[in-house]
Amino acid sequence: MFSKKSEEPGSCSSDPVSCKQVSKDEASRRLGDSGSAAGGRPNRSGKVSSTIIFTLKNEVGGLVKALKLFQEKHVNLVHIESRKSKRRDSDFEIFVDCNTEHEQLKELTQLLNKYTNIVEISPMDGSTLPGDDAGDVPWFPKKISDLDLCAHKVLMYGSELDADHPGFKDNIYRKRRKHFSDLALNFKHGTPIPRIEYTAEEVQTWGVVFRELHKLYPSHACKEYLKNLPLLTQYCQYSEDNIPQLEDVSNFLKEHSGFTIRPVAGYLSPRDFLAGLAFRVFHCTQYVRHGSEPLYTPEPDTCHELLGHVPLLAEPSFAQFSQEIGLASLGASDAAVQKLATCYFFTVEFGLCKQDGRLRAYGAGLLSSVSELKHALSGRANILPFDPQRTCNQECMITTFQDVYFVAESFEEAKNKMRDFAKTLQRPFTVHYEPYTQSVDVLEDTSNINSMVKDIRHELDIVEDALSRLRTPLRD
Ligand SMILES: [Fe+2]
Repeated sequence: MFSKKSEEPGSCSSDPVSCKQVSKDEASRRLGDSGSAAGGRPNRSGKVSSTIIFTLKNEVGGLVKALKLFQEKHVNLVHIESRKSKRRDSDFEIFVDCNTEHEQLKELTQLLNKYTNIVEISPMDGSTLPGDDAGDVPWFPKKISDLDLCAHKVLMYGSELDADHPGFKDNIYRKRRKHFSDLALNFKHGTPIPRIEYTAEEVQTWGVVFRELHKLYPSHACKEYLKNLPLLTQYCQYSEDNIPQLEDVSNFLKEHSGFTIRPVAGYLSPRDFLAGLAFRVFHCTQYVRHGSEPLYTPEPDTCHELLGHVPLLAEPSFAQFSQEIGLASLGASDAAVQKLATCYFFTVEFGLCKQDGRLRAYGAGLLSSVSELKHALSGRANILPFDPQRTCNQECMITTFQDVYFVAESFEEAKNKMRDFAKTLQRPFTVHYEPYTQSVDVLEDTSNINSMVKDIRHELDIVEDALSRLRTPLRD
């Protein structure tokens, strides 16, 4: 879900992926001018200067309990202050500068989650932590539950809306958005996604989007999309008068492709969003766009996620393609993440493919946008072959249709191209996803590479055994 702002007024939006690259300055401003960008570098004692920003859960004595954890973990507080949140009008945020070692910081943040909602931890903004990361490798999640540590850094929107947002002057809508934002910020891995009782207006808005897009799907969507959409009607209650629940959709995806969903409050940074894909986790918004403009939204909403992304995420080949982009991003440089995010934008969000001699859409930004879906397949759009080396330099358009769309022969071809492209990106190691533990192994020494070779040998044994049994059928 990062995203583009979307098309012209009056059309559907699609958002998403915001390769809408929020600039570092902008991100810093939105994150509260904490000055935390300076944190995260080891000092002479081997400790790291870090800034943690958190809000308190509604509990008496929450601040005292939180600060006590710093004492228990022997973390030196250098500076502490509270400020009014720039994200949520009613909240105060606590800013803490401290000196700590990497492991201490990890333990501390896990404990803090009990009493607080962590908004930002500075070493996770691309800086280096000593210990398990070598050289200038940015921190990245190693196991699926680590995503709890990076899903709080919402760069845009969340519960705050810009003045040109359709819901800016609607206090009821803004209150509703805060509700969704709080649900997402409080979500923890391993817990069910809260079920939403959508209002009649929200269902009506969803219905308009649903009906208009369904008129186009038979002639515009790729065959994988068309194959999976009826399954979602059957198992997740997709219909024009019902907004599906993310928890049901997550369970459905888990069975079909291994993907699961995490609710998110708004735009994540490209690095955090792509990191989720590495674990087959897709961050989804749960709110509905403002009802005044059902076919326009300046940000991703649940219509975009459910109608644009979900049907393709159920497809194993597409799931694999998405995960490989995510895995390539872990520990990659900012420049490499930018390139991967741009490739993601022009594939998962705005990708086209050729099927039976015709162009079809598989990008969620297209499949959730009536006007851009029509435009991309109108014969008037610029179409180029998908080539990551070329595609990664294409400008992502935020407020208009894309200048160019990239077409892949198949997901398999796109995956192979992305795989080759990822090898050209600088990173001192590669990673391997371990599905049993939902974690990544960093392959940077011979011991874990040897262990992987053993696993591959075992898999080959199974294949050999299966083939030999085919050659020698059982006799009575
Ligand atoms: Fe998206």
